[in-house]
Amino acid sequence: MSRVTLTTEENTSIHALLHHLTSKYSSAEDPDFLREASIYAHELPRRIRSFLNDFKLSERSPGICLISGYSLDDTKLGKTPPHWKDKPALSRALEEEMLLVLYGSLLGDVFGWATEQDGHIVHDVFPIKGNEDKQISTSSEQTIWWHTEDAFHAFSGDYVGMFCLRNWDQVATTFASLADIHLSREHLEVLFEPRYIIRPDISHQQTNEAPAPEQTKGRESLHIAQQRIQHMETNPDKVAVLFGHPESPYLRIDPYFMEYLEEDEVAQQALEALIKLIDEALCDVVLQPGDCCLIDNCRTVHGRQAFKPRYDGTDRWLKRTCVTRDLRKSRRARNASDSRIIF
Ligand SMILES: [Fe+2]
Repeated sequence: MSRVTLTTEENTSIHALLHHLTSKYSSAEDPDFLREASIYAHELPRRIRSFLNDFKLSERSPGICLISGYSLDDTKLGKTPPHWKDKPALSRALEEEMLLVLYGSLLGDVFGWATEQDGHIVHDVFPIKGNEDKQISTSSEQTIWWHTEDAFHAFSGDYVGMFCLRNWDQVATTFASLADIHLSREHLEVLFEPRYIIRPDISHQQTNEAPAPEQTKGRESLHIAQQRIQHMETNPDKVAVLFGHPESPYLRIDPYFMEYLEEDEVAQQALEALIKLIDEALCDVVLQPGDCCLIDNCRTVHGRQAFKPRYDGTDRWLKRTCVTRDLRKSRRARNASDSRIIF
């Protein structure tokens, strides 16, 4: 995995930039901050900008990179919250949320979903009581099976960014890159054909009565968004698992939410061959506080090992966001050209 560790000077420079930003904006989702984020991102150290630019353009294996060494004050964060609905008016991790947005803005534009975590753009990932055995990021005792993020959706992000705030139990994130996998020509050709069904994952299916934060018409738009997800659940389109260049394909895949193709044995066999190879290639990375991991969502799957939750305020806590290279492609599902929320 490509990795860069911030030097003392880079840390100082980043903290100074974040100090300025937190004095100006009180939320990493402030539309004015988001509008300027790609400009502020140019004030990050040149080495980091260069590192992410190379990650974006070279598409080298394994499609995951790590920016380490950001100094983080654990006491400042307070306790790991019990639920993402319990957000304080001013986030105790505002600096880290902003830094995640800035890193993401060097790869594209950060965005969120009306149907996920109350329409927030920066998500909380920590164990929630009652979700232990669910296939959702806020579970704990169940492995999160590897997947590409929001694989069911045509507007899924190009990258997923995860910023680690706390991970006392050294819980591993898992990943595997398609570039390290060698499929037969026969299977490759089948996987490029629209023969597969990926249903919406649980995070988008939760009943979510809270209005989206960005406009007064949120409740009505949210209802439409939920209907769209429901339609994808009941009438899913068939999609290809692989796309792009045949020699260096991209993928969208989420086996846990994919239908078993009883009537298309050839397609099912090709999928199973791919799943087996990804299983064999799966690696662990243990994120440390201050680490930001950026995953190429078109080339690399990710998941998480199971762990025992603490529920005492010291649980593993990540901030997460999605990044698209092309915000415009989802325009029909967003309320304005500069809106970051997909309905
Ligand atoms: Fe995920």
